[in-house]
Amino acid sequence: MNRTLILLFHPDITKSRANAALAAAARQLPDTEVIDMQARYPGGQVGMFTDGAAEAEMLLGASRIVLQFPIQWYSSPALLKAWQDAVLTRMYYVKASTEGARLAGTPLMIAATAGNVAEAYGPGGQNHYTISEIMTPLKAMAHRCGLPWHAPHILFAAGHLSDGALADAAAHYVTALKRFAAWAPAPVAVSPSILQNEGV
Ligand SMILES: Cc1cc2nc3c(=O)[nH]c(=O)nc-3n(C[C@H](O)[C@H](O)[C@H](O)COP(=O)(O)O)c2cc1C
Repeated sequence: MNRTLILLFHPDITKSRANAALAAAARQLPDTEVIDMQARYPGGQVGMFTDGAAEAEMLLGASRIVLQFPIQWYSSPALLKAWQDAVLTRMYYVKASTEGARLAGTPLMIAATAGNVAEAYGPGGQNHYTISEIMTPLKAMAHRCGLPWHAPHILFAAGHLSDGALADAAAHYVTALKRFAAWAPAPVAVSPSILQNEGV
């Protein structure tokens, strides 16, 4: 199995320029599937049991996972949180030994677009905090779930790119996805904490 699963969380991909271009480029890659999660869950609700089994199966069929989204208010769109609450809670708390333990070890990469420029992110910049700091909750999620964390792929100034710059960004994304596919992190031992039910 060599399959890259890209879960795209854009509130309205029909109005997207950046994420639409990146997703279109990614879809050209072999062994790569892009799932428009907003189209899958137009109401924004993800059910732990009604939808969770299919979501878990999709994740367990992947060799690596990309979560792609536009940064909104220094975070990810609400649907990604709804997906975490339903799918990861199911996999790591309700069915930790049969689902979570099997997903552990699957590499994870964040692919995010930001409206602001790179210099805005950091002390002295308009947004003060670095992208790495803003990614902390997702990094903590990856750590808890035993998903090896690959350096995120960030496209800055995503709302202001010329057609040429957007084409370059799409090509860079393809390169990043290939690099991610070639990445071989150290195997993750299933730690007792992955199997620990914390009372959900
Ligand atoms: C509600 C909302 C909040 C946003 N918050 C941020 C933000 O915190 N930081 C940032 O750099 N850009 C922010 N943006 C800009 C988006 O990240 C940017 O428009 C998007 O990445 C462009 O991608 P798209 O063409 O696929 O929509 C925000 C946009 C919206 C609509």
